[in-house]
Amino acid sequence: MTIADDIIRLKKEKNAVILAHNYQPPEIQDLADYTGDSLELAIKAKDAEEDIIVLCGVMFMAETAKILNPSKKVIIPAEDAGCPLADYLTAGMVRDAKKGNPGAEVVLYVNSTAESKAEADITCTSANAVSVCASLKSETILFGPDSNLASWVAEKLPDKKIIPLPKDGHCPVHTEFSPRDAEDAKKKGYTVVCHPECPKSIRDECDLVASTGQMIKEADRSEKWAVLTEKDMVYRLKKEFPQKDFIGFEKAVCKDMKLITPEKLKKALEDEETEITLPKDIMDRAKDAIERMIKIKG
Ligand code: 13P
Ligand code: SF4
Repeated sequence: MTIADDIIRLKKEKNAVILAHNYQPPEIQDLADYTGDSLELAIKAKDAEEDIIVLCGVMFMAETAKILNPSKKVIIPAEDAGCPLADYLTAGMVRDAKKGNPGAEVVLYVNSTAESKAEADITCTSANAVSVCASLKSETILFGPDSNLASWVAEKLPDKKIIPLPKDGHCPVHTEFSPRDAEDAKKKGYTVVCHPECPKSIRDECDLVASTGQMIKEADRSEKWAVLTEKDMVYRLKKEFPQKDFIGFEKAVCKDMKLITPEKLKKALEDEETEITLPKDIMDRAKDAIERMIKIKG
């Protein structure tokens, strides 16, 4: 019996579904029932009929799954898998910003804590940030916690005033790239795609700016891609399109995404741990903001 056999057996015995983010290590992507971006995982979790949802990703993704499908047991195999970007923003900071900007609507990237989401009018992911902000009536939008995604949305929607909350929230993985990474790849004949969490200086050098899910949807545009996002996205892309040439960057590692291993996944299924629990009022308020986002197409 291999560890993969054990995981498949436990999954059946416990009636569990395994959802994995596109940045998970290859061996976890291979064990998952479904691999996707943060929006796709949220929708899968909302619709899951199994008794247990195992979220192989980081804490905000597991919290989002619990908020959207509260009657299920949601477990994360590494309870310390956080997101340094989410930690930039507290619920208190959102409340203070609302007081200071009456009339502004609050859009929070799903890479945020459940407590912060409970203060938001609506959430967004990198796949729908522009359409979510475009759908709002107010001209002024408080947008957090990613200041780079905020600047990407502001470029796309010049009629809106996008205020980043806080000013310097960023992902340590996507700010590791330099414009040279894109320039060098272009010289070698690659079409270059980056995630919108990259700073403007990098986005400006790229052929395409896309969420991880959009990178898959847009892959037909080229046969040779250089991918400026977390390194294991390339594994996902190669699996989908084995005939194409994808190169990634070994320096782009999300340490939190790598905390989940097959051993920890097996133990999580055995012990049904670590279970996500959140205060009901936080769940209810955050759910309104997340469900409002899911209703927006695009
Ligand atoms: P996606 O929504 O594109 O999957 O991105 C999630 C994320 O954490 C990017 O760093
Ligand atoms: Fe958070 Fe960045 Fe890791 Fe995404 S890649 S989970 S934003 S730290």
